[in-house]
Amino acid sequence: MAKAKPPLSRRSFMRAGATSLIAPLVARGAASAQEAAPPDSEESTRAGIQAVLSVNGQSHRLTIDPRTTVLDALRERIGLTGTKKGCDHGQCGACTVHVDGKRVLSCLTLAAAAEGHEITTIEGIASPSGELHPMQQAFIDHDGFQCGYRTPGQIMSAIACVKEGHAGSEAMIREYMSGNLCRCAAYPNIVAAILAAKPKMES
Ligand code: FES
Repeated sequence: MAKAKPPLSRRSFMRAGATSLIAPLVARGAASAQEAAPPDSEESTRAGIQAVLSVNGQSHRLTIDPRTTVLDALRERIGLTGTKKGCDHGQCGACTVHVDGKRVLSCLTLAAAAEGHEITTIEGIASPSGELHPMQQAFIDHDGFQCGYRTPGQIMSAIACVKEGHAGSEAMIREYMSGNLCRCAAYPNIVAAILAAKPKMES
């Protein structure tokens, strides 16, 4: 008898989303390199591409290696280090940001693929006056972190989880936050924080 397929987990869902952003870019990056220099030449491997990234409402014009990820562009080129690098392989969720409001793994998303889209990072979710986002405040109120390293990714994912309508119960939250690992195992407090922030985000 055929084995039943497991349900789509949030982690595989996020990977699929990231892959869909990468695919067109690979073709685009290859095309740019071909225009700049003959294939396989030393010059073509060194050549950068121009990309304008919109991050938290500000435009950043960069010359980058076509292989640069959004995560590295944010941290090393733009100076926004709130987004964390954990595994750099799409396995831990520490690097989660929003692209056009949807959560993506920035370590699996090529920067050039994000051109023309709005990137939001942990630095961009508080109000202009400095008031914390309800999810940030809830993480503080419910002690949803210990070392805090992966907290930015957790918070970005948690906001998306509520907006997606996947925060209706503890079980749903655990499933749709399963792509964000917490080495300190603060999961019960993270779930409590999301449940507390949800009505404030929806009011
Ligand atoms: S750093 Fe991107 S998933 Fe771990």
